[in-house]
Amino acid sequence: MKSHQLVYQILARENDYVSGEKIGEELNLSRTSIWKAIQRLQQEGLEVDSIKNRGYKLTQGDLILPELIQENTNLTIRYKPETKSTQTDAKEGIEAGNKGNTLYLSTCQTAGRGRFQRPYYSPSQGGIYMSLHIQPNLPYEKLPSYTLLVAAAVCKAIKNLTMIEVDIKWVNDIYFKNKKIAGILTEVMTSVETGLVTDVIIGLGINFSIADFPDNLKEKAGSLFMAPAPISRNDLISEIWNCFYNTDSDELLYIYKERSIVLGKEVTFQLDGKFKKGLAKEISESGQLQVELEDKHTIWLNSGEISLTSW
Ligand code: BTN
Repeated sequence: MKSHQLVYQILARENDYVSGEKIGEELNLSRTSIWKAIQRLQQEGLEVDSIKNRGYKLTQGDLILPELIQENTNLTIRYKPETKSTQTDAKEGIEAGNKGNTLYLSTCQTAGRGRFQRPYYSPSQGGIYMSLHIQPNLPYEKLPSYTLLVAAAVCKAIKNLTMIEVDIKWVNDIYFKNKKIAGILTEVMTSVETGLVTDVIIGLGINFSIADFPDNLKEKAGSLFMAPAPISRNDLISEIWNCFYNTDSDELLYIYKERSIVLGKEVTFQLDGKFKKGLAKEISESGQLQVELEDKHTIWLNSGEISLTSW
């Protein structure tokens, strides 16, 4: 690891000021190197307070440590501080022959996108943007609904680390205090020869501690934390993927339904150009939503084509 990453780890673990001397002794670094490392952390958006004769204290922010996430998850981490979109990074990685179980990670996206090609707000401070590439090699009908599994893994991870309960809006949105704090975009690639789904890219964007949103998003978008956050983004990223890989899919589907804010509610959606209303009754393993219409007919909504307009 680089000096500023090592200094960050010391500051992140201490609750009080740490003297430059103590940091220097532990890392075998000169005072000048420590000072440069602190400057670098501040350039990366972290707030580090310094008091003469007491030392340094991290007061806000964290630093993404790809090596630490790799150690904690067994995933291969490909990190870029800034990128167009981690979905595009994953696609380029697949084309270049990178294997599955690779996580493309960034802290800023200049062309982040969501479902239906909508832009996804991805500022450089306080967000998590990542795309997991897996290689299931299964027929499309046998694929689990990765969007559901990841949404539930996000809920479980946040609860494990903080005791905070977040909610899920069918099919791919995570809500906290009635505002969207995360979204999932799952894309698949199929082999023309075998007809099997060779590659899946699961994109996940989280508003971890984003202080402010543009006017057009203010009403709907929220953030998991207001600064200072009680955990680091490294903790959350690792916990999400450990929950995803190490939790039985039945348990994740149970969590998905338990945290659903639409089940049992009246929902509206657009079908064939017309607004329709109904009662959300069930979510299938493959991610469809069963709705009982006003005339008591039930239909299954497909997440690839429909998003709810109210719930
Ligand atoms: C949605 O809300 O419709 C889904 C949003 C998915 C956003 C994530 S951020 C990481 C990955 N890269 C992207 O460009 N999109 C996904």
